Amino acid sequence: MALLELDDLHIGYPADGGMIELVRGLSLSLDAGEAIGLVGESGSGKSQTALAILQLLRPPLRILKGRIRFDGQDLTDAGEAALRRLRGGAISMVFQDAMSGLNPAFTVGVQLTNVISAHRKASRAEATRIAVEALDMVGIRNPEARLRQYPHQFSGGMRQRVLIAMAIACRPKLLIADEPTTALDVTVQAQIVDLLGDLRRKLGLAVLFITHNLDLMAQLCDRAVVLYGGMLMEEGKVDALFAAPAHPYTRALLACVPRLSDLPGVIHTIEGSAPVAGRLTTGCPFAPRCGARVAQCADRPPVRLVASGRIACWKAAA
Ligand SMILES: Nc1ncnc2c1ncn2[C@@H]1O[C@H](COP(=O)(O)OP(=O)(O)OP(=O)(O)O)[C@@H](O)[C@H]1O
Ligand SMILES: [Mg+2]
Repeated sequence: MALLELDDLHIGYPADGGMIELVRGLSLSLDAGEAIGLVGESGSGKSQTALAILQLLRPPLRILKGRIRFDGQDLTDAGEAALRRLRGGAISMVFQDAMSGLNPAFTVGVQLTNVISAHRKASRAEATRIAVEALDMVGIRNPEARLRQYPHQFSGGMRQRVLIAMAIACRPKLLIADEPTTALDVTVQAQIVDLLGDLRRKLGLAVLFITHNLDLMAQLCDRAVVLYGGMLMEEGKVDALFAAPAHPYTRALLACVPRLSDLPGVIHTIEGSAPVAGRLTTGCPFAPRCGARVAQCADRPPVRLVASGRIACWKAAA
């Protein structure tokens, strides 16, 4: 059984007498211990999908349709108490901006033990022991001393490690990491992704990794789901996707990854601009920018199962 399952998820909000949909019929599943990448340009619906899993969408955004199952439980109709137990418990989340996830007025130790006490019956001493262990696990040296320090005494990369320590302290089954490295410099990015891979192996953690960076995604993930305009374009094993992307959008996205062989100053981009929610066509959302477009693309391509995974494209071969 899959650990996490999204089934025909639609996210949107009411406007102008109708509904504006940001995520349109997304299905995906993630097994225990598996890492999948959710990729796609800005605005494709990655973060809203992540927030929807934990029922943290900000109104008026809401789930319009579809189901989210986690570990046999339907999260779409779970009560607030059950959701509070899950958040930071069996499912935890790490975001891009480590500073906003930490309160500058409290020591790291206070914040870490608060999270632990919220989910476990632990004495102060026990919570501190778990906090030390968590910091140690994310590679922070002298954890006992570090617990007494404030967030500003940590570098950006170290703050992100603290947030990851908070996220794993209660031994989640699923970690949702939404661009956890975007604010960091390149070498630190790779270290954080290494750490996530390490924790995944040690703790049997499943990871939903949201990123713009396809190289980092490949470093961590077994499979990738490519989103565009709130819809799944292609899904497959990372190696296969990189070696032979079948969807024109995946091909375009991969062509934008900078290569060492590029001439200085060359930046590859996909021509045209990403779709604006609410002004989405009924057909394939990528069609207006797609070089392989045919008349049929005015109709929405169904998601087909193919040998390498799934694809939604009229033109791509199986
Ligand atoms: N509160 C909101 N009200 C209306 N539209 C919103 C709201 N929040 C996000 N959106 C829209 O939802 C769409 C999906 O947003 P989302 O944040 O999920 O994109 P993303 O894939 O995470 O992008 P990025 O890579 O920039 O983080 C975008 O078109 C965005 O403009
Ligand atoms: Mg986002």
